[in-house]
Amino acid sequence: MTTYSDVKNNPQVLNFIKQTEGAMTALEYTNHGLRHAELVANRAKKVIKDLGLSKEEEELAAIAGFCHDMGNFMTRTYHHYYGALIFHQIFQDKFKPEEVSTIMQAIANHDKDEMNFTNAVSAVLVLADKSDVDRSRVTETDLEKVKKDIHDRINYATRESKIKVDKQKKRITLTLKIDTNFCPIIEYFEVFIERMTFCRKAAQFLGYDFGLVINKFRLL
Ligand SMILES: [Fe+2]
Ligand SMILES: [Fe+2]
Repeated sequence: MTTYSDVKNNPQVLNFIKQTEGAMTALEYTNHGLRHAELVANRAKKVIKDLGLSKEEEELAAIAGFCHDMGNFMTRTYHHYYGALIFHQIFQDKFKPEEVSTIMQAIANHDKDEMNFTNAVSAVLVLADKSDVDRSRVTETDLEKVKKDIHDRINYATRESKIKVDKQKKRITLTLKIDTNFCPIIEYFEVFIERMTFCRKAAQFLGYDFGLVINKFRLL
């Protein structure tokens, strides 16, 4: 099987991610480049492992995580579909049909309204992606401009985001540390309520509850 390491070193994938990084910076979005790709891949891999799923699923989740946003350089609105299709174009002969379709489904599913889960890889990808809120995602360097943009403000105020699987309590918890001097917690909900709903759906598919802890307060 083609491995995560092969995909991570594929020149086409790396170039699409590089182009995406540029395109998102031009749109003044938070980081969707290599930093985000690697973080989501590693987080997805770890969640699969903590859930006690197979090595194969761990590898597929890492690959889907690394590639999930690489279609953004062509279109923001349909980046999930384009990402899945370009993944197929590069790797169609490198994976078994069921592996390539699992990765494509996970990529196409990660950012759409009619999101639904048919396998653990797609559910874990959503948890890994939607939980990436962090100061290091903010590409804007002018603090005054950061303060004016709600997405930048929330990311900038977030000092830590961790996702933990508790197999006994059957709960997947996202823990955040937010600097409330910089951004009130209500703003997090204003912007990320949809993301949290997606995470809850993903956790439910895996047979878990979704928990949210912000600054030591359990909110879900
Ligand atoms: Fe995305
Ligand atoms: Fe993403």
